[in-house]
Parts: sequence; C-alpha cells; structure tokens
Amino acid sequence: MAISLTPAAAPASTPFGTREAAASEPTLLVVSEATRRFRTKRHDTLALDRVSLEVHAGEFVCLVGPSGCGKSTLLNIVAGFEPLDGGTATFDGSPIRRPGPDRTVVFQEPALFPWLTVRSNVEFGLRIQGASKQERHDRASELLEVVNLTRFERAFVHELSGGMKQRAQLARALAVSPRMLLMDEPFAALDAQTRDVLQLELQQVAARSGATVLFVTHNVREAAILGDRVVVMTPGPGRVHSEVAVALSRPRQPDDHGVADLAAEIRARLGGAGVADAEVAP
Ligand SMILES: Nc1ncnc2c1ncn2[C@@H]1O[C@H](COP(=O)(O)OP(=O)(O)O)[C@@H](O)[C@H]1O
Ligand SMILES: [Mg+2]
Repeated sequence: MAISLTPAAAPASTPFGTREAAASEPTLLVVSEATRRFRTKRHDTLALDRVSLEVHAGEFVCLVGPSGCGKSTLLNIVAGFEPLDGGTATFDGSPIRRPGPDRTVVFQEPALFPWLTVRSNVEFGLRIQGASKQERHDRASELLEVVNLTRFERAFVHELSGGMKQRAQLARALAVSPRMLLMDEPFAALDAQTRDVLQLELQQVAARSGATVLFVTHNVREAAILGDRVVVMTPGPGRVHSEVAVALSRPRQPDDHGVADLAAEIRARLGGAGVADAEVAP
C-alpha cells in the first residue's frame, strides 16, 4: 500500500522518491483532514488546516517546518492533549480522545521529577502500571544501558547535563513500551555537539527497540538524519506541504553527502512555499 502524497508533493524526479518500505506494516496512526483553530481576543489562528498524516508501525517520521506551522499542535493532538475542531485522528483504529501509555511524549524541556533519581524516574511509569519490583528493576536497567546512563542511575536531575536529562527522558518514555514515541523538538535546547551525539544514539535506540516515532523539529538537517520519512509543513495556515521518503543507509551523520542533499531538498521545498531560510535551522 502506497502512502498518499498531498497534491503539493514534489514530482517523482527527486532523488528521494516515494516511500514503499514500511508501507506493508500496519498503519498505527491515521490523521485525516485535521483542523485546529485557536481564537483569542487578538488572533484567530488556523493552526492546522486539513492536515493528513499516516504513520506505520516501525516507522520514524519527522515533521519539519518553521515555528508556528502547527507541528506541536499536531503532535499534541496525537498525544491526546488537544482536541480537533475538524477531521479525525485514530490510533490503532480507535479515535484518540485522551493521553495514554501507548503514546508517550518527550518534550524539549525535560519533564523529570527532581525528587527522584534517574532510575526512579525511569521506573515511574512502570510503577503506575503495577509492574513488580523485579520487573521495574530489570526494565529500567535495560533502558539505562540503552541510553548510556547506567553510571548515573543514582543521580538526581539537577546533577545531569542537558543531554543526560534528555537521555533519561527518553528512557522513561520507552520504559512503558509505548506503541508510539512522540518527540517535540527534544534536542533543540542542546549544544550542537550534544545534539549530534543524541541524534546518533536515537537512531540506534530506534533500530534496537523497533520503536515507532513521530519526531517534530524545525531543524532541516535533523529531519534528514532521523527520518525514514520527512513530512514538510508550512505555516499560515498550518498545512502539510509534501512528504519525502528517505532511503539513506543508517546510522546517518550530519556530514553525510546524502543527508546534506536531502536537507537542501527540504529547504528548497520550504523556500518554494515562501518560507525564508532563516525560519528553519539549517
Ligand atoms: N493554545 C494556543 N492558543 C492560541 N494560539 C495557539 C495556541 N497553541 C498554538 N497556537 C498558535 O497556533 C500556531 C501553531 O502553533 P504550534 O503548533 O505551536 O507551532 P510549531 O510547533 O510548529 O511552532 C501558532 O500560530 C501558534 O501561535
Ligand atoms: Mg512547537
């Protein structure tokens, strides 16, 4: 089954083609004609204008676009934090109505409990789910190793660097074995070097865990490094401009030629839609 492209999709002559790979996997997320409007005293904003998106199990999908194009709004709808004003959003066939442990979120600002150690933060969701002490311990140990935090399992949040906090957040989000991981600019506040490291690690974690990921960024190169598929969004009103399927081998590094070419392609699409280069991170 091929993923339908929006009418604005680029011609098939681009080197990145259309996606076929994970298309045979079940469709986990279906957002169809989603509309979301915010009315305040001063503004009437069409944050999402008939946005459609599908994510298959095991896919890593990046949403990229400038600030204000509705990325967080779309992610929040999928997370169950926000309602729709029009259209539908279903997860595994059921309408999304509220947050659930099948969709865990990693934010830009780490949402960790400062009074708990790293290990206890990772175990937190499992405790809520009623996992036994042994189960919690084993699962947390496994994930702390996956995110390279084993040495810091007893540390408290204020003792961690920004990158370590994001690793801890990732481990906590993965601990409950979500069907889909939702990430909203999780590396945007980190220095460039740490971001490079975490982009590499996240590719490894995703490959190892088989996680399905919806990842929001305004950083074009980050989208090119991480995505199996990149969904390009444009603002005013928030719309899906087009999608790019990415067949580049992994792990991908920021300096890879293929990554650079893909980033240029995404920038060109945004530019063609009237988004200035300065509005997205290169
Ligand atoms: N709660 C809200 N109230 C009013 N306007 C909002 C609210 N949330 C988002 N918006 C507006 O909707 C648009 C899309 O916002 P957002 O989804 O945060 O974009 P992005 O994450 O791509 O930067 C922006 O114009 C923003 O100002
Ligand atoms: Mg946002």
